[in-house]
Amino acid sequence: VRHLLGIKEITPADIQLIFETADNFKEVLNRPIKKVPSLRDITIANVFFENSTRTRLSFELAQKRLSADIVNFSASGSSVKKGETLLDTVNNILAMKVDMIVMRHASAGAPHFLSKHIKANIVNAGDGTHEHPTQALLDAFSIREKLGEVAGKKIAIIGDILHSRVALSNIFALQKLKAEVMVCGPVTLLPRYISALGVKVELNVRKALEWCDVANVLRIQLERQQMKYFPSLREYTLYYGIDKKLLDSLNKEIVIMHPGPINRGVELSSDAADSQQAIILNQVENGVAIRMAVLYLLASRV
Ligand code: CP
Repeated sequence: VRHLLGIKEITPADIQLIFETADNFKEVLNRPIKKVPSLRDITIANVFFENSTRTRLSFELAQKRLSADIVNFSASGSSVKKGETLLDTVNNILAMKVDMIVMRHASAGAPHFLSKHIKANIVNAGDGTHEHPTQALLDAFSIREKLGEVAGKKIAIIGDILHSRVALSNIFALQKLKAEVMVCGPVTLLPRYISALGVKVELNVRKALEWCDVANVLRIQLERQQMKYFPSLREYTLYYGIDKKLLDSLNKEIVIMHPGPINRGVELSSDAADSQQAIILNQVENGVAIRMAVLYLLASRV
């Protein structure tokens, strides 16, 4: 495998290998000296055309822990603002002897397009509403860590499924790992093709929470909404907002996940996000080990 473009393109065995490699790196990250020389001869460019906190910093830390040389590119403040194309931008970065590109882009398919035109390894750090493969890997890895395994577990993905690359990558990853997957949200925020993906669909959030072992709660992506959607934020919170009172009223304790950034008080209240049943910061911690594993395996051409 030369690239990680999406979860759709990789096999269950690939995912297991990434998890086993991440287990080893997680152990390294718990040592006093967190650095290994694995990517000492590799130069990586983090090319971000969209904002990011977790993914960008997590890739950067993963690369530093692996001893890679890195450069960071943000579209804002670059010559993209003068009209330079994606391909020209990346080819100019590669001319400086860069081996690997980690890219986030607002357009679905941008990394797939790039993979047809450049020789360097590409890792998709999120492409529009399409895929966010390393997020899905760290999410599934966190479920495995918390519950022992992913197979057979019931995972509800709740929120703005229509605009979410996290939802699609999670669906592919969880199905490949033999979990049962449900999506839940207002019908206006569910894609028309959703049933074709083989997931359960539930419009009622209480029923989704009663069904699942794990709720992966997503934010409303206002920045991707071209038109005024129903529901408004206030209506969304009223009908789909998850708080501790709702969680405590269930007949079991479920695991709460969120990829971040959280819209506190919209999809998740602070008392739910900060409760001991939430593993949101464990997801962030696991992101570094997962990204180390992905970069290491791609550089090793395993
Ligand atoms: N989960 C995630 O992709 O967060 P960022 O947008 O901050 O990278």
